[in-house]
Amino acid sequence: YPMYAQQGYENPREATGRIVCANCHLAQKPVDIEVPQAVLPDSVFEAVVKIPYNQEVKQVLGNGKKGGLNVGAVLILPDGFTMAPADRMSAELKEKVGKLYFQPYSEDKQNILIVGPVPGKKYSEMTFPLLSPDPATNKKVNYLTYPIYLGGNRGRGQVYPDGSKSNNTVYNAAAAGKIAAINPTEKGTDVVIDKVDGGSVTVAIPSGPDLLVSVGDTVAADQPITNNPNVGGFGQGETEIVLQNPARLQGLVIFLGFVLIAQVFLVLKKKQFEKVQLSEMNF
Ligand code: HEM
Repeated sequence: YPMYAQQGYENPREATGRIVCANCHLAQKPVDIEVPQAVLPDSVFEAVVKIPYNQEVKQVLGNGKKGGLNVGAVLILPDGFTMAPADRMSAELKEKVGKLYFQPYSEDKQNILIVGPVPGKKYSEMTFPLLSPDPATNKKVNYLTYPIYLGGNRGRGQVYPDGSKSNNTVYNAAAAGKIAAINPTEKGTDVVIDKVDGGSVTVAIPSGPDLLVSVGDTVAADQPITNNPNVGGFGQGETEIVLQNPARLQGLVIFLGFVLIAQVFLVLKKKQFEKVQLSEMNF
């Protein structure tokens, strides 16, 4: 959950560029982000985030049964950019956002937004309402091109914050040896391995993954003894946005106006000169 990232990491994006969700959501799946090429200062705009997956597939739930997938995301905006306040959102934007609830990552990171988990059937595509900063009032921002980073996930993670495995991952043989017994338990299955070097070890497998071994099989250390039930995955995306100075746009429009007028005058001058040429020919 995005909350696990909030609790465990001060900054969700590591120095390497890796977003921390990947530490627990081990499979990689694509995500996509679309933002306007440029925005003016102090204006509301939207980022559209896509977390696509096959809506037909079901995943292993915490209780071992099968169910639908949920999605969640973290959006890392440039400093000064924030979530758009509700009173500045148009009715159309409000409708696109729907019931999604965005939250700043932390008190001092209002430019990082998290959302989810929410049902993937409904929110495989989501709209983030955003507000650009104004360099006139916020001295820390400038009219520049800035990067935006996205992390998006569908499906349950493989590791809990305490380091334990979830039931949505593969289980391995704790030691090399022979499968001595497979005992059903309340929570799943205990696989007892008689170790090559004597003694035995038990691997407790929660309900979820399917066993790939039977009694009498020999296994190597760390050999997978279940399948990997995970059908979800996490992905990162990256895009750019220009914080555009309105004065530059006004300047461009004025300049283009002058170019237009100059061209018209050149044509008029040519017409006038043609008339002179015609009248000169009559002499
Ligand atoms: C579940 C997203 C970070 C471990 C989920 C779910 C979502 C999600 C959407 C629900 C999936 C479903 O029910 O189908 C994210 C995002 C993260 C993030 C966007 C980063 C911002 C983490 C981290 C950890 C983690 C850092 C580990 C410390 C898990 C686990 C579950 C889960 C174990 C399954 C919980 C359960 O059902 O028992 N995550 N997650 N996640 N996440 Fe994350």
